[in-house]
Amino acid sequence: MLVDRNDPSALLDKCFQAAYDPRAKLATLARRGEPTLRYFFEELDLAELAQLDWIAIISRWAHILAAITAVGGTIFMRMALVPSVGVLPDDERKKLHEGVRSRWVKAVMAAILFLLLSGIYNIVMKEKQLKTVDQGVKSLYHMLFGIKFLLAFVIFFLASVLTGRSPAFANMRANARFWLSLNMTLAILVVCISGVLRALPIKMVMPPPVEAAAPAE
Ligand code: HEM
Repeated sequence: MLVDRNDPSALLDKCFQAAYDPRAKLATLARRGEPTLRYFFEELDLAELAQLDWIAIISRWAHILAAITAVGGTIFMRMALVPSVGVLPDDERKKLHEGVRSRWVKAVMAAILFLLLSGIYNIVMKEKQLKTVDQGVKSLYHMLFGIKFLLAFVIFFLASVLTGRSPAFANMRANARFWLSLNMTLAILVVCISGVLRALPIKMVMPPPVEAAAPAE
């Protein structure tokens, strides 16, 4: 049944109905070959706006802030800090290095924890959306996500080694320029892949319209 656009209360009712179970409603409308599907989408947007998902928003904040911290910090170290401390005498350079390391390691550990927690939440939620998505897009999403996930662990490993004190990785810390360059490149790649993941068209596959049942004789 069409809703009178000039009737705010009928419009609001329809919005609540759509917000209550938008997918089932959409599938029913699509099955009927409903001509007002576009209009329904407009209502759905309104209804979704009215129902902000705060857990998703907080998780997104945590993910983006942690990514900014980890990636920005790596770029700053490689491009500004490491080349600048080279001019200092050995003992001062070591002191500065230890001061930066002991403070930065806390930020790195917190960033890894937040990226993991919010990332796992994000992917669990995303999987629900992907259930109704075209198979090609779903496969592409999973492939890109798999690459991102592996790269993220390489980045976490390198960041932990470079800010840690384990004697086993002293050689890597001695060659910090190279490993920081690699980590910076990988981190930029991960941000680029994440942008593509976000931009992939998560379109619902509509069930084909069915013929309306013949009226009873
Ligand atoms: C170096 C580590 C990481 C960086 C720099 C990073 C960066 C990003 C960025 C920039 C976004 C886009 C955020 C937005 O626009 O809302 C994103 C989204 C996402 N990230 Fe990460 N991330 C990292 C690690 C992880 C990990 C470890 C996981 C999984 C456990 C993960 C799962 C996700 C998911 C599922 C999304 C949503 C993608 C979408 O919109 O479909 N990320 N990440």
